[in-house]
Amino acid sequence: MVTEPELEVLISKRKIAAAVRRLAAEIQVDYRDKYPLIVGILKGSFVFVSDLVRCLDIPLQVDFIRLSSYGSCTESAGKVTVINDLPVHIQGRHVLVVEDIIDTGLTTSFLCDYLRQQGPASVKLCSLIDKPSRRIVPVKIDYLGFTVPNLFIVGYGIDYDEKYRNLPDICIIKEEGKC
Ligand code: IMP
Ligand code: MG
Repeated sequence: MVTEPELEVLISKRKIAAAVRRLAAEIQVDYRDKYPLIVGILKGSFVFVSDLVRCLDIPLQVDFIRLSSYGSCTESAGKVTVINDLPVHIQGRHVLVVEDIIDTGLTTSFLCDYLRQQGPASVKLCSLIDKPSRRIVPVKIDYLGFTVPNLFIVGYGIDYDEKYRNLPDICIIKEEGKC
């Protein structure tokens, strides 16, 4: 029999919704006349992006990029690659990268450098969660929802071994022997 690990709510859907509204209000002021390109990093950001853009009452474009993930464990292999690139040119555009969680910083620092090489007008970063205790490379987060301690979390798009993305709350997995 497969036993499911115990989950404990860390950030409720109500608190997430309030943070999304707060971030959208900040972003809306900064990007009002800029027709930003919102770039979600797949797969983890898909829920956050969909809620965030529905709170943004400004003209914008949304697209996604898929980067190599670290597999089913949380440790970084140290090298990030593009699996599915953006289908649009970003030269001259105001790009806002949207990420679910920033941990070592390797993914977002790679992506921001990669995008900056393509001549955008600006690149900024929005992340729902920051886990600064495990940072390897510094990352400037322009719009941040929550800072969490060094815990493994799931839900609201964030997975453990591809599971739990559909949870409405952000939860901690209470399980021994996980990655
Ligand atoms: P970074 O390159 O280490 O900053 O990696 C960030 C990515 O690692 C996130 O987008 C997640 O996909 C994954 N990640 C980091 N921490 C967690 C966690 O607590 N739960 C699930 N995925 C995580
Ligand atoms: Mg991610």
